[in-house]
Amino acid sequence: MEFNSNLKKIKPSGIRKLFDLAQGKKDLVSFGIGEPDFITPTHIREAAKKAMDEGYTHYTPNLGFPEFREALAIKLNQKNKISVTPEEVVVTSGGTEALFFSFYTLLNPGDEVIIPDPGFVTYESQIYFAGGTPVNFTLRGENNFHPDLEELKNCVTSKTKAILLNSPSNPTGAAFSEDELSAIAQLAQEKNLIVISDELYEDIVYNGREHFSIASLPGMKERTISIFGFSKSYAMTGWRLAYLAAEANLVKEMAKLLQNTAVCANSVAQRAGLAAIQSSQDCVKEMFTAYNERRNVLIKGLNEIKGLSCHAPEGTFYAFVNIKETGMSAEELSMYLLEECKVVTVPGTAFGKQGEGYIRLSFATSLEDIKEGIRRIKKGIENIK
Ligand SMILES: Cc1ncc(COP(=O)(O)O)c(C=O)c1O
Repeated sequence: MEFNSNLKKIKPSGIRKLFDLAQGKKDLVSFGIGEPDFITPTHIREAAKKAMDEGYTHYTPNLGFPEFREALAIKLNQKNKISVTPEEVVVTSGGTEALFFSFYTLLNPGDEVIIPDPGFVTYESQIYFAGGTPVNFTLRGENNFHPDLEELKNCVTSKTKAILLNSPSNPTGAAFSEDELSAIAQLAQEKNLIVISDELYEDIVYNGREHFSIASLPGMKERTISIFGFSKSYAMTGWRLAYLAAEANLVKEMAKLLQNTAVCANSVAQRAGLAAIQSSQDCVKEMFTAYNERRNVLIKGLNEIKGLSCHAPEGTFYAFVNIKETGMSAEELSMYLLEECKVVTVPGTAFGKQGEGYIRLSFATSLEDIKEGIRRIKKGIENIK
């Protein structure tokens, strides 16, 4: 049987591969999963139960409940300084869908999208699905995975339609500065490019820094699709809920995709999301405090292991660990840690070629597991030498 040829371009996920191998193994310490270990906060779960009892069990408007889009627009204006109207907000079934709709709305065959390497695996696959061509923009370990503008400029061709930015970044933990984002914004304006800004980790930024949205810069709202979510901020991965802000004409085209695919995001999840953004944000701060403590313990522990080094992530709950001194490849070391130490990590190469020499550890896991994991990794690395 002949299948869609775009699907042939999709490589099996390097993350999945490790998880499959870990299946059935007992007494594992997992740094693998990229999702909060917390259960969704009580008041959000209660709002969902109430919504069900009140009969929020029907289709919603394609782009989301009007009161939800209104509340999201207020949040985007106040917190992110992006001046959008509710009509410019689209509610989606997760950030993954928001990304897909963005690529699909924008791309024609042959259009290029610049994506970070290393970067979140889904970008490349989705660009292929939408008929576009991904172009890798190298982020270098020696710059702590911050962008080099000259290198970015060299990726731009006459076919470039958009640049995908992800700050704070999965897997590197880099959070781009306002200056870096301003320089990219200027390039986007000069070259007439769209920016797709994946800001799923906006609430997990360390050292007292504030998250900065590129669409808040002058002239950028019109050419940016800003994507935010509930998965990471409110520990709501399973609810499948996110939203994006984009200019009204783009939203009108994107609406056709919603109408003819998912129809709308889950009605109960939308009501829960409304409660999440309209209630106290203490739960977000509490989870952040836990990540911050875990980050400090993990980074200190990793840097005490001879052969490993790790720059403290500026955002997210990922440590991207330099393993070059071990003499092993990223995949070899991840396999070794799984087989010999019962520790699950993800090889950096799962996120692109530039991830060679690195492994990703998610610290969205308990402090006890982090301490035990460090102990096991230390022993394992010592045994290599
Ligand atoms: C950078 C980044 N963007 C988007 C997503 C998608 O999140 P979701 O589809 O759960 O909202 C993830 C999930 O891991 C991510 O790491």
